[in-house]
Amino acid sequence: MSERIAIVTGGIGGLGSAICRQLARQGARVVAADLANRSERLGVFRQEMAEFGERVSFSALDVTDFDSCKRLIAATEASLGRVDILINVAGITRDASLRKMEKSQWDQLMAVNLDGIFHMSRAAIEGMLARGFGRIVNISSVNGQTGQFGQTNYSAAKAGVHGFTMALAREVAAKGITVNTVSPGYCQTEMVMAVPEVIREKIIAQIPVGRLGAPDDIGRAVAFLAADDTSYITGANLPVNGGYFMSF
Ligand code: CAA
Repeated sequence: MSERIAIVTGGIGGLGSAICRQLARQGARVVAADLANRSERLGVFRQEMAEFGERVSFSALDVTDFDSCKRLIAATEASLGRVDILINVAGITRDASLRKMEKSQWDQLMAVNLDGIFHMSRAAIEGMLARGFGRIVNISSVNGQTGQFGQTNYSAAKAGVHGFTMALAREVAAKGITVNTVSPGYCQTEMVMAVPEVIREKIIAQIPVGRLGAPDDIGRAVAFLAADDTSYITGANLPVNGGYFMSF
């Protein structure tokens, strides 16, 4: 990949950071877009990305705010010339069984995990169409494929992510733009470490590979789908889950 310009939402989080790293290693100029209030995490992220110098930068973004998403795309196009690669990673959990789930837990989750993908893709797609090149990778989850106890909201949104991927992939397939999903399994991230240990241990026991995924396992899969020469895979859902869920 020659100097491609990439935006990674949720870019300083567990999976987001690994994705930024792998894209930068592949030669991309990467903008990590994430909430402005994560200053402690941002400090660590800057250290982790130090080897890439100015090739990895940070922009404050709340993906639930459509106007902010539009402004970030416009500002990136103005300063760096274009947005070639969009990786939609920003996501949250609000786990509760349905009978205990507050409406606010449903609404917050949908606003980030599903609306955010629409906001960013809607803002980025015009420029990609005009230039005849684009790579969009949406992060879903194994729990969108299987459903998970306590995650009606998350599983619904993550299944929706891949529906979005397939529909958009068809719309832009003839225009040099691919749209794919990566569905991580349980990885070593803060989100997974927040699952009660006794439940987490039971889940790990069911992973055929026998361990949690490393964030770089996800980063490499995303970088592969974002590469210039990965041009004949579109509308696909790539599971990276250690064999936890297998299907055709
Ligand atoms: N499967 C089946 N039954 C379960 C269960 C499970 N996983 N978990 C709880 N139950 C049962 C309990 O045994 C209990 O049964 P009884 O009423 O007969 O005693 C009943 O359900 C309790 O139900 P509650 O609604 O009271 O459950 P809770 O409030 O105690 O806990 C929960 C619900 C907070 C969602 C908890 O189950 C939990 O944290 N689960 C983990 C969810 C999870 O895996 N989240 C993944 C986050 S990471 C991620 O999402 C990243 C990714 O993409 C992979």
